[in-house]
Amino acid sequence: MPRISSPVKPKAAKRLSMEDKAPKSPTRSGSSGRKVATPSKKAPSTPTRKKTPKTPVVTPTTPRYRKKPAAEEDFSSDSDSENVSDASNNPQRLSKKFLNNIPDPEDIEKSVKELKDTAIPLNATKKAYSIVHKFTGSLGGNGAGGPIYGELTIKSMQKVVEMMRQYMEFDSSSRFIDVGAGLGKPNMHVAMDPKVEFSYGIEVNPERWYLSLSNLKPLLKASLDDEEMGKNVILEKGDIFDAKAFDPFTHVYMFDIGFPGKLFSHLSEMFNKSTVSKYLISYYGPKKIIGKYGFDVELMFKLPVSMHGSGEGHTGYYYRRVAKKEGKKTSKAKKALNLVESDDTLPLDVPCDDLFKEAWRKVIAGPEATLKWTTETLSEFEDSQRPSRERVQRIPYNM
Ligand SMILES: C[S@@+](CC[C@H](N)C(=O)[O-])C[C@H]1O[C@@H](n2cnc3c(N)ncnc32)[C@H](O)[C@@H]1O
Repeated sequence: MPRISSPVKPKAAKRLSMEDKAPKSPTRSGSSGRKVATPSKKAPSTPTRKKTPKTPVVTPTTPRYRKKPAAEEDFSSDSDSENVSDASNNPQRLSKKFLNNIPDPEDIEKSVKELKDTAIPLNATKKAYSIVHKFTGSLGGNGAGGPIYGELTIKSMQKVVEMMRQYMEFDSSSRFIDVGAGLGKPNMHVAMDPKVEFSYGIEVNPERWYLSLSNLKPLLKASLDDEEMGKNVILEKGDIFDAKAFDPFTHVYMFDIGFPGKLFSHLSEMFNKSTVSKYLISYYGPKKIIGKYGFDVELMFKLPVSMHGSGEGHTGYYYRRVAKKEGKKTSKAKKALNLVESDDTLPLDVPCDDLFKEAWRKVIAGPEATLKWTTETLSEFEDSQRPSRERVQRIPYNM
């Protein structure tokens, strides 16, 4: 096993069995059926529930730091502009009409109140978390990096998923990146629900990444026989500074508390260069994200969440892209991205940054390829961590 100083015993992972039973959710039907779910890709559905015991902390969009209103943006160079329904069918495209429709703050508030009933983790998701907790300890990130690490509770992450589903076109055709994936929980979560097309995490800290991959391996194994378990996850060790754009990801998630300014500048440049990355979730408000670092986004809503272990609260800010006035960025970005035009399994119509290509190829190749890569990468890392001490040559004493 590697020499990384993990407080968890890697062997514990072997003891884990995919037979672990997760408690059944009382509000779900079937093995994974969502009993109460009101997903809506575009116009948020008006909730019908009246049960609203607690007043959630919801602040509707306050476009104080909004850049230009979408209506003023020039989409003329974007030949792919579509109407709302087209856009919801194809989240890769920016829709002028969709962008003009800021979600109604009242709808947002109602949806947030309903999360108590709608944001119920699937059994597969619970199973995934129970494996992660057994392996890395109940404090999760505390096992690798101290209490400042930070990660959401399963309930809070489910709320994130639910709001994304309702207001951010988040579904099985989405491609999700977690910048600084840590132990990989958000990635595993969205792979289970809503079973995104591509769930990619990048983590610069080798210890956390190692734990994340160790967590992922049994999940991927289980997914080969269990339809409910998400498959399309790749967790890579790497530095996001090595990417130029967020393409091909449609949804960019970052638990970015404490990220340095230089990183934010890079992330903003990446996001603004991207052509298909439409939604951004950050834990900083518009003053920093838009005002200071210039992300081309506008705030849609914000949502309070709780942290695993500490119970500490944070607020997630949900943004969507606004197009740049100068336009033409599609072709510019394509050039910058050095797109592969042929002899590749990657879709030709979706740009992909070089850094993410190999991972996406694996996911496209299927769950066996994804598991194989995860297993081999894990072994390679473990081997690389073994001490290269020379074996003491045993000399028979009768010689
Ligand atoms: C607070 S943790 C979030 C973990 C995970 N996203 C979650 O929500 O559970 C932030 C992570 O970002 C990682 N990180 C910081 N800078 C990074 C970079 N340049 N590239 C990749 N990961 C980075 C850190 O190592 C840390 O594990």
